[in-house]
Amino acid sequence: MGGHEQHHVVLFPVMAQGHINPFIALADLLHRRRPDLKITIVNTPLNIQSIKSSLPPNSTIRLRSLPFSPSDHGLPPGTESTAGLPFSLFINLLEASESLHPHFEQLLHDIAMEDGHLPSCIIADNFLAWTVETARKLGISHSVFITGGAFGHGLLLSIGLHFLRLPTTQTNHVSVPDFPEIQIDWSQLPRHLFVPDNADKWTGFFHRQNSYCFQSNSMLVNTVKEFETTGLSMLHKLFGLPVFPVGPVLCKPLSSSLDDVSRCVEWLDSHRPGTVLYVSFGSQNSINASQMMELAVGLEESGKPFIWVIRPPFGLDVGAEFNPEWLPEGYEERMREKKQGLLLVHVWAPQLDILGHGSTAAFLSHCGWNSVLESLSHGVPIIGWPLGGEQMYNSKFLEEEVGVCLELARGNREDMMSAKVEREGVKKVVEMVMGGTEKGVEMKKKAMEISELIRASMEVNNGVMGSS
Ligand code: UDX
Repeated sequence: MGGHEQHHVVLFPVMAQGHINPFIALADLLHRRRPDLKITIVNTPLNIQSIKSSLPPNSTIRLRSLPFSPSDHGLPPGTESTAGLPFSLFINLLEASESLHPHFEQLLHDIAMEDGHLPSCIIADNFLAWTVETARKLGISHSVFITGGAFGHGLLLSIGLHFLRLPTTQTNHVSVPDFPEIQIDWSQLPRHLFVPDNADKWTGFFHRQNSYCFQSNSMLVNTVKEFETTGLSMLHKLFGLPVFPVGPVLCKPLSSSLDDVSRCVEWLDSHRPGTVLYVSFGSQNSINASQMMELAVGLEESGKPFIWVIRPPFGLDVGAEFNPEWLPEGYEERMREKKQGLLLVHVWAPQLDILGHGSTAAFLSHCGWNSVLESLSHGVPIIGWPLGGEQMYNSKFLEEEVGVCLELARGNREDMMSAKVEREGVKKVVEMVMGGTEKGVEMKKKAMEISELIRASMEVNNGVMGSS
């Protein structure tokens, strides 16, 4: 590339809020580090609109849409995000992303026409590693960005690459193909892989993307070196690429309404420091109806104050109107009167404000990676209830390697019923983590130590968008 050409990085996140957010934060970080760099984020039209609303009005980050019609792929109108999709549609949407290949190539040519030269680098989500073919064809450098953690993805990608070598009959422990020293429980295998139709579609797609990663020039991971030394070496061993921890890249995703922010903060202000449990299952997943009922009773019986972000139970439409029957009779009123629970129904919770508040003691979380980093950056220990993707490996890592998590239940997107959650179990775990037990005190201490590591990295990253 000639000396006068402005370096131009094109970023391409997968269509999901939990992936788009770290990409926006990475773009912001690149911009602050190298103001001379031209940065473009590429996605489907609806996602571009939502990214636009997350950027400050004066942002110089450029946005480009690729033509995409959900109906061409058997998807309902407007389906451009994997959030809340049943697994079959989730796979369809991800598979459909591969059809963007020619449009993506055309877009890069259009950019070359406008700028007089091609972009210098493509940074694509690991689920969109097919972009490496375009990069190679045009002679552009390519990096895969893993928006999740290194350990979780080390396991997930290894399993995705070697699915056929995994046992198909139940066994107590399974050795992870590339890391035989790591044993996982049978229930930690992504069980949707064993449903024949899914196995064909999902393993095909996932295997392809993982295989493309080998051709990339490097891997970026949204994590912190000192926190994830093991996971980073695992990824390096798996792909033989340079692996760069660039995290934490955290960004305040969608803004919550000011009313919701003050409602939560005032409610937290009215509780003693370190006494409140925050309960949320992220942007994509939901628990099922009977689990929701047991959780509600368990929380009430624990006697601990809590803020719970309530979404429709699994299987219902994400926008389904709230039905009081999802919860025990008179629950909302009782929680309000006792000042025990603040239920956020169909509300985009101000998660960073909640986790950063001194009254918050612990986070009952699905262990999505953004939630993990956000929680630990505030020194808040985690009660794990993974629901899909690599979340169960995040939970394993946090519990067994780091000691900041206690797993309450383990589910799987396609097999939610398998996570047996009973009120007594909820009560017991909440008590262990928040009741001043030796275990709880140790978890808090560890979480504070990790918080320092993450915060030190945040400072190096020169302040992170939306972080407090
Ligand atoms: C997805 C994947 O499923 C997960 O496996 C992967 O690790 C990350 O992406 P997601 O449900 O999006 O998970 O969870 P998470 O990574 O925790 O991201 C959710 C983001 O939305 C967080 O930044 C959280 O602060 C934010 N959020 C969520 C809110 O601000 N308010 C809400 O009400 C819910």
